[in-house]
Amino acid sequence: MKATCLIQNIGELASPTGNRAIKGKEMRNISIIRDAAILVDQDTIVWLGPASELPALEGPNPEFIDAGGKAVIPGFVDSHTHFVFGGYRDEEFFWRAGGLPYMEIHSRGGGIASSVKATREASLEQLLATAAPRLEQMLKLGVTTVEGKSGYGLDLDTEIRQLKAMRILEASQAVDIIPTFMGAHSVPMEYKGRAGAYIDFIIEKVMPIVIENSLAKFCDVFCEKGVFEIEDSRRLLKAAKTMGLEIKLHADEIVPLGGAELAAELSAVSADHLLKASEQGLSEMAKAGVVATCLPLTAFSLKEPYAEARKMIDAGLAVAIASDLNPGSCYSQSIPLAAALSVLYMNLSMEETLTALTLNGAAALGLAHDRGSLEPGKLADMLILDAPSYLHLAYNIGMNKVGRVIKKGKLVCTNN
Ligand code: NIG
Ligand code: FE
Repeated sequence: MKATCLIQNIGELASPTGNRAIKGKEMRNISIIRDAAILVDQDTIVWLGPASELPALEGPNPEFIDAGGKAVIPGFVDSHTHFVFGGYRDEEFFWRAGGLPYMEIHSRGGGIASSVKATREASLEQLLATAAPRLEQMLKLGVTTVEGKSGYGLDLDTEIRQLKAMRILEASQAVDIIPTFMGAHSVPMEYKGRAGAYIDFIIEKVMPIVIENSLAKFCDVFCEKGVFEIEDSRRLLKAAKTMGLEIKLHADEIVPLGGAELAAELSAVSADHLLKASEQGLSEMAKAGVVATCLPLTAFSLKEPYAEARKMIDAGLAVAIASDLNPGSCYSQSIPLAAALSVLYMNLSMEETLTALTLNGAAALGLAHDRGSLEPGKLADMLILDAPSYLHLAYNIGMNKVGRVIKKGKLVCTNN
């Protein structure tokens, strides 16, 4: 067998398996191999198993990485973030901590609107300069693929600038970036009270440019009472699908509006947040194969009850967990805290949590065929933990247990 890299002395190799979203009780079936080794050729895993069964190698000696008896897991796939934005909303965080509701700040013209103002004022260079360190931080935390949304421009130029920033960053650092067009993140001041007219503008004037320049894979919408309600969301997402984008929704976050049902009706790849999703909506999502993305850091930051991820899995859904890093509702990319909240407050097992952060995250981006698990044929995106077991990801609460990050077969980050 030919290999460019051999990772040896792996105390515990832990990974979900499969090429698609893992649903329901199968989420707890992860493969665990002790005293393991992995062979990588270029960017792809070609073999893994017990070190005692390592196949004979041909050709030049591979690069050798000693895992030091530690655990190895797949790279995290953070399938929901808004990491490109101008300015901050630090004051707002403390207003909310003092009891002011998120939507009240939003309807008084703060919230997303403040980030829109700051992002419109930011040049491409400024957006790059603030987003790049966020990505670097994610890589240190073990994120090897991240989704990023536009939606702090809400005008043609700024939406395109945000998406271009992601394209430039994608080419200049290690983390793979999957861009989502989210022009329908909020109704901008210029269209106050005219959400329908704004959706027309997005469909007619912005989306065609996004498509022509291949700037996004997904289209997303903040489907929420007082923002974009079901009819406007449906119209936007149908148009996006017709133009060739895959679709996602911010659904049933603040009030139960029927976003989960809409996600099922339109065969969205994922519906995200779902704090207030109805049982009916969730069961329709399960039937339609929509990934339910839970964002426990946002619930934590907004002091809201967590999404009912336990019930979702028990009802047969595929659950992914993502950070939702953004300047407002959740200024955190802490995968370690998300893992702890998943276990302690969403009542998922560590195995389900691992599947949600890796393979189901990949599925939420339509990428489960080539990443999200450690198996021959998949990309060599993996983490050598600074811990003997994947169990420490939640157990050592809020701490970064990632020692080294291998992205597409190359060691790209060493934390210790
Ligand atoms: O996913 N809910 C809407 N969008 C973001 C928040 C954006 C913001 O507050 O800036 C979210 O939570
Ligand atoms: Fe979000």
